[in-house]
Amino acid sequence: MMPLIDRFSDSQMFPNGTGAPIALEAVDLCMTFNEGGGSQLEILKNINLTIKAGEKIAIVGASGSGKSTLLHLLGGLDKPTSGQVFVDEKDLFRMSEKERCRVRNNYMGFVYQFHHLLAEFSAEENVAMPALVRGTSPSQALTKAEILLEKVGMTGRLKHKPAELSGGERQRAAIARAVINEPRCICADEPTGNLDKTTANQVIQVLLRLNKEFDTSLIVVTHDMELAKKMDTIYTIESGHLKAL
Ligand SMILES: Nc1ncnc2c1ncn2[C@@H]1O[C@H](COP(=O)(O)OP(=O)(O)OP(=O)(O)O)[C@@H](O)[C@H]1O
Ligand SMILES: [Mg+2]
Repeated sequence: MMPLIDRFSDSQMFPNGTGAPIALEAVDLCMTFNEGGGSQLEILKNINLTIKAGEKIAIVGASGSGKSTLLHLLGGLDKPTSGQVFVDEKDLFRMSEKERCRVRNNYMGFVYQFHHLLAEFSAEENVAMPALVRGTSPSQALTKAEILLEKVGMTGRLKHKPAELSGGERQRAAIARAVINEPRCICADEPTGNLDKTTANQVIQVLLRLNKEFDTSLIVVTHDMELAKKMDTIYTIESGHLKAL
């Protein structure tokens, strides 16, 4: 596979193999929280979902319906009560924590509603971080970070710390950080939740461009129907069940 830098500079697509391979698959996912007094809260009930390479989906639904819970399970951030999530044909929850972290860092990208950038590091250092964790050399990681920050329209903001960036710039930096390891799939929880319309639109365009140029799958949890409508399929969670709208 061609290195990221060449691919970005040539604006080439990820090779997508034959057809569209599966980026992520959830099988019979259940999540139940134990409440006090022995009662249980069944939030997700037997969720099945297959996401192909390049596919983009939105998950909408009432507050408290389980959207973030599902996203955390799909990304291996939480363990389900039962069920499986396959990434790269391996079940995320039948591997060691160390292996799960490696798979997450190599195959998945996360964008949270509140960016979670590290305050003491510059934009380019924040973006470079997952590549450094993966073992990329610092100079290569920073070069990749610069290219990505330019891609998301942040030339001239490379050395700024998060507190010196606008909300939209922080979110765009968070997206650049999410994609530096060339993930197959980006999980985004309310990526436009705290942004004004214009800035939200910029963030949406960045996500869509990554999807188009690099065939990155998108799983976007959102209340924003404008964003949801730009996805291939919109799902909702009702009474613990996932339904396509
Ligand atoms: N660790 C936990 N322990 C107990 N209950 C939890 C836990 N995490 C989430 N819940 C409950 O599960 C339900 C689903 O939460 P979740 O965060 O997935 O909702 P959501 O659909 O993302 O809502 P929002 O749109 O408000 O972000 C909520 O009722 C919440 O209180
Ligand atoms: Mg949520």
